[in-house]
Amino acid sequence: MTHPFPGDLIELEVGRVAPGGSCVARHDGRVIFVRHALPGERVRARVSAQGARFWRGDAVEVLVASPDRVASPCPYAGPGRCGGCDWQHVTLSRQRRMKAEVLSEQLRRIGGFDLADAGLDVTVTPLPGMPDGLGWRTRVQFAVAGDGVPGLHRHRSSEVEPLDRCLIAHPDVERAGVESARWRGAAVVEAVAAPSTGEKLVVVTPAKGRRFRAPTGLDAPVAVAGSAAGSAPAVHHDVAERRYRVTADGFWQVHPAAAEVLAATVLELAAPRVGDRVLDLYAGAGLFAATLAAPVGATGRVVAVESDAVAASDARANLADLPQVRVVRGRLTPGTVAGPAIARALGGPPDLIVADPPRAGLGTSATQALLSRHPRALVYVSCDGAALARDLKAALGCGYRVEALRAFDLFPMTAHTECVALLSAGRS
Ligand SMILES: C[S@@+](CC[C@H](N)C(=O)[O-])C[C@H]1O[C@@H](n2cnc3c(N)ncnc32)[C@H](O)[C@@H]1O
Repeated sequence: MTHPFPGDLIELEVGRVAPGGSCVARHDGRVIFVRHALPGERVRARVSAQGARFWRGDAVEVLVASPDRVASPCPYAGPGRCGGCDWQHVTLSRQRRMKAEVLSEQLRRIGGFDLADAGLDVTVTPLPGMPDGLGWRTRVQFAVAGDGVPGLHRHRSSEVEPLDRCLIAHPDVERAGVESARWRGAAVVEAVAAPSTGEKLVVVTPAKGRRFRAPTGLDAPVAVAGSAAGSAPAVHHDVAERRYRVTADGFWQVHPAAAEVLAATVLELAAPRVGDRVLDLYAGAGLFAATLAAPVGATGRVVAVESDAVAASDARANLADLPQVRVVRGRLTPGTVAGPAIARALGGPPDLIVADPPRAGLGTSATQALLSRHPRALVYVSCDGAALARDLKAALGCGYRVEALRAFDLFPMTAHTECVALLSAGRS
């Protein structure tokens, strides 16, 4: 068959893995991104979407299997099913190697940066705990079908896959009991667990124009999303002998070991000195600002910038005992990132910058604006390899070099990778 339609089955030789977790195959010269496949396999795939530049497919039958294929531990994963995980069918070691391959390729193709030329390589390091890659998600957002049944979205779909258990969810998330309740009038139900303190919470976004009443029999308090700062319920996380308040729907690292591992890595790579002026951009509840405060000492200054009112208020509360830290609530843009408000709070140009932006990254102009202030180093925490590669390219253009690149498996069973890059000024 030369011109298959969506729903048709075609046989494919599967090539390299692509960002997003699908693998690249070709049919009559046309690129097809195939889900639930592995490099080197021969599969029968169902065509799921056809675009002008490429098609999508889902491997429904494996004709020649990769040695890295395993039986999916999750009964809801697989062709056409839950879109939460990409790689339940892959060994953890192969998942990590594929993440490293994708990242190296993104750095090369988008960043024009060859790791080997810089004397670096990427190894995706597992986090402590959860050796089977399951039970790590301390925050799960459940979609709700019209009848109030919770589930997870199917891949690239608004359809809900109902489930009675999510295997990557932390046991405390499961204990909250979201899946066994009915959520009539809710659009989204998010279960949040804080394993270090044992707290849990369910945050509900009501559906527009529907009346929501919380179900009974849950093992967690229920909050409505968007409550005002200070009045909304929160959970607390303990990291390195400090307790962080994180209000209901505020940001916190999702893997239970992530906050500690990332804070330690940022501290090691930033290597702050007494008296340094440090910028912590996209600061959330203040994790990195707190970590950097002690080493800069009383003569130093850390300015934490965060746009979300609730997160900024959490950061103020979490950092209140650290007189060298200021929290600035503000939306970072290429125009404000190195602007006068931040410079005033910092009391001069930054010696060090830590940036942990959302998926879209800093952007070329913001990276250039920050580095025009000549910090000694920029420590860039990234959850998106393409955005990181683009911004590393901008930094290289400003005369900075990539001195270290760490990659962590914060999101096992998915194609996502977390990186921490150290960009240093001048030659060593
Ligand atoms: C990936 S989180 C990092 C939080 C923190 N570094 C941590 O590890 O807990 C990104 C944070 O940036 C904030 N944010 C998003 N866009 C922003 C912007 N334009 N300016 C400032 N903060 C922003 C979000 O509210 C969120 O708290």
